[in-house]
Amino acid sequence: MIRIEQLHVRYRTERGEVYAVRGIDLNVKQGQFFTLLGPSGCGKTTTLRSVAGLEKPTAGEIYVGDEIVFSSVKGLSVPPYKRDIGMVFQSYAIWPHLNVFENVAFPLREMKKRVAQDEIRSRVRTALSLVQLEGLEDRPAPFLSGGQQQRLALARALVREPRVLLLDEPLSNLDAKLREETRVELRELVKRLGITTLYVTHDQLEALTMSDVVAVMDGGNIVQEGSPVEIYRAPRDRFVANFIGLSNFLEGRVTKVGRLGEVESSGATLKCVLPDGVATGDSVIVVIRPEDLNLYTGAATQNDNILEGKIEALIFMGDTLECQVAVGKQIIRIKLHPSSPAARGETVRLQLPAESCRALRA
Ligand SMILES: Nc1ncnc2c1ncn2[C@@H]1O[C@H](COP(=O)(O)OP(=O)(O)OP(=O)(O)O)[C@@H](O)[C@H]1O
Ligand SMILES: [Mg+2]
Repeated sequence: MIRIEQLHVRYRTERGEVYAVRGIDLNVKQGQFFTLLGPSGCGKTTTLRSVAGLEKPTAGEIYVGDEIVFSSVKGLSVPPYKRDIGMVFQSYAIWPHLNVFENVAFPLREMKKRVAQDEIRSRVRTALSLVQLEGLEDRPAPFLSGGQQQRLALARALVREPRVLLLDEPLSNLDAKLREETRVELRELVKRLGITTLYVTHDQLEALTMSDVVAVMDGGNIVQEGSPVEIYRAPRDRFVANFIGLSNFLEGRVTKVGRLGEVESSGATLKCVLPDGVATGDSVIVVIRPEDLNLYTGAATQNDNILEGKIEALIFMGDTLECQVAVGKQIIRIKLHPSSPAARGETVRLQLPAESCRALRA
């Protein structure tokens, strides 16, 4: 439904060129919820604006549905209003001089084919009820809370019933509780309407909970694409492992190859999942998530993959207790149940389940 091929975007500024997007390929299927996730400045907004037609890419091709909307080679660029797209901007850009009703009605009034008054009224009402803003039609837009303004921006994007919706950090201004509720509601809403959604966020939890597919971006490139589970369970490199969730990294050297190979690390031999093609003697980094480790204060019930260390710090986080264990010079973090009897200064044994240890090329 949305296809991007070899997209490059360079901005010219007074202080030289900024190479914001460096050859992105992506393919969002009909009805899919597809998320671009990455740190600030990695090129998410630029990519989204290029799809909307608000940015002129330096090179590449963009398709929406069966239609080609941009091609540098063919010298073709369909203007934004002719692309069948709804968009919510990072700064949501609602019109302060208009009330709620008129904000939502605006895209309909702008349509080439005139829409009758009655129809405008009924479509605005439907859009407002989708985002639960009914009853606020006459309120001037600036007199809404930040969260309500964001939902208004969403209603405005939905009112034309576009086949494609582009959302740029649409939940960033909601408070934590409302954001959590809206995450679920928004996903259900676009799924129910069958709208293909390209979503942008720097918030890993949003990406993991809402998406069918996540593409992780870094420095203008897509570094990994996959389902939320794949991205979380099998990050391809250190950047992804670090950006999505908390990870422990242990440096080591391969001593035995195979899918479950062995790595010498922190004075111990660790069985772990090796990437394809590594050889004995190669340097690797073993990645393990804090929730996958087992901690023993007494004797460990297993002999494999044990590291001994000392508890350096305990941090209460409400639903979990983060325990930091010094193993040699390294700190390893473990998530424990908040009622765990662990104590600072205690000597403990950590067991690292082999299937949860993934080695990445160093
Ligand atoms: N109009 C512009 N002129 C010059 N450089 C720009 C322009 N817009 C963006 N950039 C630069 O391009 C790069 C990518 O910006 P972009 O807005 O796409 O990032 P982002 O991933 O959306 O970040 P954020 O999470 O902070 O919104 C950044 O280095 C940014 O400074
Ligand atoms: Mg942005």
